[in-house]
Amino acid sequence: MRYIDLRSDTVTLPTPLMREAMAAAEVGDDVYGEDPTVNALENKASGLFGREAAIFFPTGTMANQAAIRALTEPGQEILGEERSHVFNYEMGAAAAISGVLAKTVSAPDGILDPPLLEPCYAPPGIPYRSETGLLLIENTGNLAGGSYYTVAAWQHLTDWAREKSLPIHLDGARIFNAAVALGVTVRDLSDGAATVMFSLSKGLSAPAGSILVGGAETCRVARRIRKMLGGGMRQAGILAAAGIVALDTMINRLAEDHAIAYDLACGLASIRGIEINVSKVVTNIVLFRVPGKNTTEVLRSLKEKGILAGSIATGIIRMVTHKDIRHNDIFIVIDAVSKVLPEVS
Ligand SMILES: Cc1ncc(COP(=O)(O)O)c(C=O)c1O
Repeated sequence: MRYIDLRSDTVTLPTPLMREAMAAAEVGDDVYGEDPTVNALENKASGLFGREAAIFFPTGTMANQAAIRALTEPGQEILGEERSHVFNYEMGAAAAISGVLAKTVSAPDGILDPPLLEPCYAPPGIPYRSETGLLLIENTGNLAGGSYYTVAAWQHLTDWAREKSLPIHLDGARIFNAAVALGVTVRDLSDGAATVMFSLSKGLSAPAGSILVGGAETCRVARRIRKMLGGGMRQAGILAAAGIVALDTMINRLAEDHAIAYDLACGLASIRGIEINVSKVVTNIVLFRVPGKNTTEVLRSLKEKGILAGSIATGIIRMVTHKDIRHNDIFIVIDAVSKVLPEVS
């Protein structure tokens, strides 16, 4: 049975082109810097973001954590939105690995701005107060329903942080979704950040891998931390080859995922018992509420009908579109949800 799997864009399978490239990849020992395919991927990524350096990581979590460790001192606070992946889904790694505190701010749609940040910012030099060491931004916001920072919103943030000499780490796991949705470049959405992480393994559909880009010195430190965390892979060019294909062939098609997500949201909005704000569905993530219903039961019943979705909080269901979801699938999903809801209490 083929499931329509809307749990995440991480479930995407590699394309035939990726598999060919992986099989043919020229490889070497990347810990010695000798894997030509990893080097080619890193060069491509640093070029795309206009940065001095890039590092191939096994996961986005490890890349986020290496950046946090490279940019902070133990005892500092990192300031970020309360729904950030780093604060909720990385197993407390920032505390465990970098010894930093999470200072969380709640922002509409997960989008921070200087007036929200200012009261939470702790300047350095106060002898009795922990200081803010890093601003953490997530674009697009995963738990915030795929919301994005516009170029103007991003520039306000970078101006504010620059004035305070506060480094920014951008968790851009889905930064290409934001760039495609807005019709801008990833540079427009990331210039001014000290480091940027983006995932190859989500909408871009590579089997594994994320990249950290930044300045040469920060990346030199982050590369050492990658090794410390056990992320020094050897013939990693096998994976990097798929990453190159992802960057060459999978970026523009993200627009299809966004269109399908929007149509799915419109269909769901027509179902009695669903609360959804269609105008918030701007990339590939659809969040909706099923008030008065047991979400676990809704998900279980959907699974029986061949549809997989997830829940990000009590009462909130998340569906994520990606390259392995076809437009026709959403009619099946909408029909199934409309049948399942009246049956579940
Ligand atoms: C916003 C965001 N950041 C970071 C990550 C971590 O990526 P990985 O699963 O590769 O560790 C994810 C994964 O879902 C994510 O959604």
